[in-house]
Amino acid sequence: QQTMVVAIDGPAGSGKSSVSKAVARRLGFGILDTGAAYRALAWSVLDAGLDPEDAGAVIAHLPAFALDLGTDNTGAIVHVGRVDVTAAIREPRISAVVSAIARVPEVRRELIARFRVIAADAPQAGIVIEGRDITTVVAPDAPVRILLTADEEVRIARRTAELVGSSADGAGEQLRRRDRADAQVVDFMTAAEGVTTVDSTHLDFEQTVDAVIDVIDALG
Ligand code: C5P
Repeated sequence: QQTMVVAIDGPAGSGKSSVSKAVARRLGFGILDTGAAYRALAWSVLDAGLDPEDAGAVIAHLPAFALDLGTDNTGAIVHVGRVDVTAAIREPRISAVVSAIARVPEVRRELIARFRVIAADAPQAGIVIEGRDITTVVAPDAPVRILLTADEEVRIARRTAELVGSSADGAGEQLRRRDRADAQVVDFMTAAEGVTTVDSTHLDFEQTVDAVIDVIDALG
C-alpha cells in the first residue's frame, strides 16, 4: 500500500512546523520537515568551515552530508552524523545563511531526491511533508496539498513571541529578508492550482490544526 502524502507549504512563521507536527501526531502519520534538512545542511557547511555563499564548496560538501531525520519520522530529533543538531539548526546564525544554500539548484535536486526516498520508506500509513516547494515540486501529485498562510504582521508577532531577549530584536527584519530571498527560488505565497489555502491569521493553534485536518478529511 502506498504512503498517503499530505503536502504543506508556507512562509516563515506561518506555524507550518508546529501545525504539521500536531496534525501528523493526531493522524498517526510521519512527518518530514524539509526546512530542517536545509538548516542541517547549513549547520554542516558552517561546521566544516566552509563559506555558505560559495556554491561550489557547498555542492562539493553534499556527498559528506550525513543527514539523519530519524527513522521513525516523528520529526523530533535531527542528527548530522553523530551530532544532535536539533537545537542548533534553529539558531539565528543558521537562519541567516540557510537561504543562500537553499537557492543552489544542485542542493535542491539532492535534498529532494532524499525526501522522496524518506517519504516512500515511511513506516506509517501516511506522512506530512512540509516546506516551500512540496505542493509544487517535491510532491505535486499528493492527494492533499495545502498552503498555510498568515498575514505578515501576525507571522512576525508569532515568531517574536517564540524568542527571548535580544534575539527577538530584528526577528521581524530577518523573517522578511529570508522570505524575500526564498521567494526568488519558489513561490510559496500564492497557492498553485489545486492547492487549498488555510489562512491562520485569525485562528489560534488548535483551530489551525482542526482546519488542516478538515481539508485532509475532505480530500484524503
Ligand atoms: O521551514 P524553515 O523556515 O525551517 O526553512 C528554513 C529554510 O530552508 C528556508 O528559509 C528556505 O531557505 C529553505 N527551504 C527550502 N525549501 C523547502 C523548505 C525550506 O528552500 N521546501
